[in-house]
Amino acid sequence: MITRRKFLERSSLLASVLATGKKGLLNAMAHTATTMPVTLDVTNLAQFVDPLPVPEIVSPQGQRPNPTDSKSSVPLYRIEARPIASKVHRDLPPTKFWSFGPRTPGPTFETRAGDPLLVEWVNALPNEHFLPIDHTIHGAEEDKPAVRTVVHLHGAKTGPESDGYPEDWVVPGKSSLYYYPNQQDAAMLWYHDHALGINRLNLYAGLFGAFFIRDGVEEALKLPKGKYEVPLILYDRLLTRDGQLLYLVSQDPESPWVPEIFGNAILVNGKLFPYLEVEPRRYRLRVLNASNTRFYHLFFANEAPFHQIGTDQGLLSVPVPLTDVQIAPGERADLVVDFSEHRGAQLVLKNDAFVVMQFRVSASKVVETSSLPSALRPVAKIPESQAVETRQLTLDEFVNKTGKPVMLLLNASHWKLPVTEKPVLGSTEIWTLINPTDDSHPIHLHLVRFQILDRQPFEPWLFQSKRQLHFLGPPQPPDPNEAGWKDTVRANPRMVTRIIVPFEGFTGRYVWHCHILEHEDNEMMRPYEVIAAA
Ligand code: C2O
Ligand code: CU
Ligand code: CU
Repeated sequence: MITRRKFLERSSLLASVLATGKKGLLNAMAHTATTMPVTLDVTNLAQFVDPLPVPEIVSPQGQRPNPTDSKSSVPLYRIEARPIASKVHRDLPPTKFWSFGPRTPGPTFETRAGDPLLVEWVNALPNEHFLPIDHTIHGAEEDKPAVRTVVHLHGAKTGPESDGYPEDWVVPGKSSLYYYPNQQDAAMLWYHDHALGINRLNLYAGLFGAFFIRDGVEEALKLPKGKYEVPLILYDRLLTRDGQLLYLVSQDPESPWVPEIFGNAILVNGKLFPYLEVEPRRYRLRVLNASNTRFYHLFFANEAPFHQIGTDQGLLSVPVPLTDVQIAPGERADLVVDFSEHRGAQLVLKNDAFVVMQFRVSASKVVETSSLPSALRPVAKIPESQAVETRQLTLDEFVNKTGKPVMLLLNASHWKLPVTEKPVLGSTEIWTLINPTDDSHPIHLHLVRFQILDRQPFEPWLFQSKRQLHFLGPPQPPDPNEAGWKDTVRANPRMVTRIIVPFEGFTGRYVWHCHILEHEDNEMMRPYEVIAAA
């Protein structure tokens, strides 16, 4: 098992390489056969010179018969994954990405609950990958095509044939037609690649975008909307001095996979250190962590307070007042910030020591038309007694003799083993995630939404040696801003995290996995199957 110390040693080696620049790099290179391009020193870049871009809303190509009801028709969208180049900063040359649109992130979908739609997801990428594939990883062996894509709509209640099963990939020149019923509450979902064994590389390349579902409950609340509602899609990238993406490799040329990757640049909607001009009024910020590994801990430099009104699967029951917020990979936070208290000021959004972006509040007079109601959407707590099954599932990290992490698993099971989790459609289960590792793993289940019951600290070594769960403290309820419908939960280190999950919607094969993409690819992902009631 890997310890936090080993992870720290690894990341501090990298950090010292990054900090010492060329000389350190040359030394590092002397130790390894790999040649690493010189990374950018972002502290030399001017901040707040690029306006924050907002991805455009995608329009349908036309209408097609509804596959589930031929009497009606539904909009058809066509989205191409293709190579692009886009400037992440005024003073850098364009960066090569792969994207679902002319810029990265790809275009945003806007739809309403109960309005189905079709998307033709087209793979228009070249046949070679520009990031380092590890052919020892399951699903990415030498005999597999280098470039494969399959799109998953994260947070959607979708039939299994349209959910983007990791093995349902297509090669360049091919496409898949996916059907999204959108029978679910208003929420910020996101679409992204899910190809087996190279998912981390495809997302790092830029294959993702936002997808909003709206409904009447949300509209009746009169929350800030239109230009007062802004998606903030955060993802960090390691940039070279000429502004290109660098994906690190291990020191073993046979297996270049690394267990985590941290960038020197935090991009917001595709820009580094952007600014946004705002009016002195309420804004709704829809934050998504689309990073491979990085968790965000966001706050305003001046400690400005804000409210969180929603989480992964939609609105919380009440707004939660905060001065900082944590967001793990895959998670979303729906925030309302009232800039009227900061007329004429400049607010810097930070992630610990990193500068993320700036809000420039005008001094103009405005008429506030939005509200922040004290009650949002009722979230009925699911009683534990409703669960018909409780599953104990472990999160496992493995290291080799030299301490190099070589693999992570769920329940000590490889991807290829037979399906062991088979919930019955319409039933509710408790999944007990036992995390003896020193890392927080954001665990995501496809298809469903769930509630967090609690987290409880336990003694990891006793569990690993004798399979005994010895608790070191009482169960802790979820934070107020997690007490809604979730689809991704931070399974914190040395904690048992319990979630309660109604399995609704469809029968069929889905996946659950860690949303640290390096973990997911190697092999912290398992299939599960919703089966029909007998
Ligand atoms: Cu966000 Cu299985 O994915
Ligand atoms: Cu998902
Ligand atoms: Cu993980």
